[in-house]
Amino acid sequence: MNIVLGITGGIAAYKAPDLVRRLRERGAEVQIVMTASAEEFVTATALQAVSGRAIRSNLWDKEAEAAMSHIELARWADVVLVAPATAEVMARIVSGAAPDLLTTICLATEAPIALAPAMNHVMWSNPATQANKAVLEERGIHILGPATGSQACGETGAGRMLEPDTIAATVCGLSVGKGEGLLEGRTVVVTAGPTREPIDPVRYITNRSSGKMGYAIARAAAAQGANVVLISGPVNLPAPPGMQVRMVRTAQEMFDTTHDQIAAADIFIAAAAVVDYRPTSAKQQKIKKDNETASIELVRCPDILASVAALDAAPFTVGFAAETEKVEDYARSKLEKKKLDMIVANQVGDDRGFDRDDNAVSVLWKNGKQEFPTRAKADLARDLIELVAKHFYAARGADAQPKLTVISGND
Ligand code: PMT
Repeated sequence: MNIVLGITGGIAAYKAPDLVRRLRERGAEVQIVMTASAEEFVTATALQAVSGRAIRSNLWDKEAEAAMSHIELARWADVVLVAPATAEVMARIVSGAAPDLLTTICLATEAPIALAPAMNHVMWSNPATQANKAVLEERGIHILGPATGSQACGETGAGRMLEPDTIAATVCGLSVGKGEGLLEGRTVVVTAGPTREPIDPVRYITNRSSGKMGYAIARAAAAQGANVVLISGPVNLPAPPGMQVRMVRTAQEMFDTTHDQIAAADIFIAAAAVVDYRPTSAKQQKIKKDNETASIELVRCPDILASVAALDAAPFTVGFAAETEKVEDYARSKLEKKKLDMIVANQVGDDRGFDRDDNAVSVLWKNGKQEFPTRAKADLARDLIELVAKHFYAARGADAQPKLTVISGND
């Protein structure tokens, strides 16, 4: 994969050499294009050494333009990644202004563009930046992150650039051309994140799911050309571009929304941490702290995965199993009991699985399994989707008609 990596003038530019290394580890060729302000934060020498290619920065560099013009660069790219992406470069891309080599390439390329924003949290939440983000996403530009946490300026909030490994894994999973995806024209429904089961107007039962695993799976399916419907519990993640996203809160809402969408699904992947038990009746008023102890009667939530697998025209159904012990035994019994096609088993507890950027899983099916050691969820998701696609076609036939034939405008 040929990647043009645009580096702009944010403090996170110091992470660029590590990002280049991660991209090249995944087999990508990386051509760096720096803006003038980027050179305040990282040297061209360091970047040339780590990328193995001459750095480009100046649109009027006659020698460099003669060797490979900005148009040839725009055509060479399978993906244009801008990391870090400042608020200012986001505004320039929205407006179509192209005063420098990087924004000229962004205007001239037909390849997917991905931006990894990095800025102070107040700049990120500024209405102008948020409006620019919305316009960019509407145009199909991938906004990767940002993360929330402590910032170089000493403040804390949303605006931290995602870690280089996560950016590299996500970008390398972007589909590099229409019509080439394993799941072209297929519909994939994915559930992600936790659910929230109200106790009273101010309290609820939930769990530690961040949605990262399910969102990575949805992105990976979209990168393989699928029409993706992501059904998400409450999470602190931006809606991934290029798919339908349905936000829900309770297990019942997730159940209802899944069944609204499932008829069109070729594949269903249940990565959500759906709460198993909810209060039999949520109180209308806040429960007062009158007694030393309190108890709540709980009732089972609807089992979304089992209900989908039980459908007459069930999609190819992939469940998850989050277990703290006997992981594969419990997962295999769920595979059989719920009559699933595949199940992704991951060990949780001791800070594993939930709310982190990596995971380790074993994928089980009737006559086999495949293990995936700990790696970035974006990487893992890409491999999971490839494995699911392989088994889907083996089960349904490679020429099986898609459930939902997408009639594009020019058909
Ligand atoms: O979201 P992250 O922070 O990235 O964390 C990822 C994860 C740990 C949540 C994910 O990898 C994972 O394991 N998801 C499944 C968690 C879960 O609820 O596992 P379970 O063994 O309790 O449920 C088994 C399966 O039934 C799951 O596919 C679940 O989506 C589904 N289920 C469970 C209960 C219910 N009422 N309806 C369901 O569909």
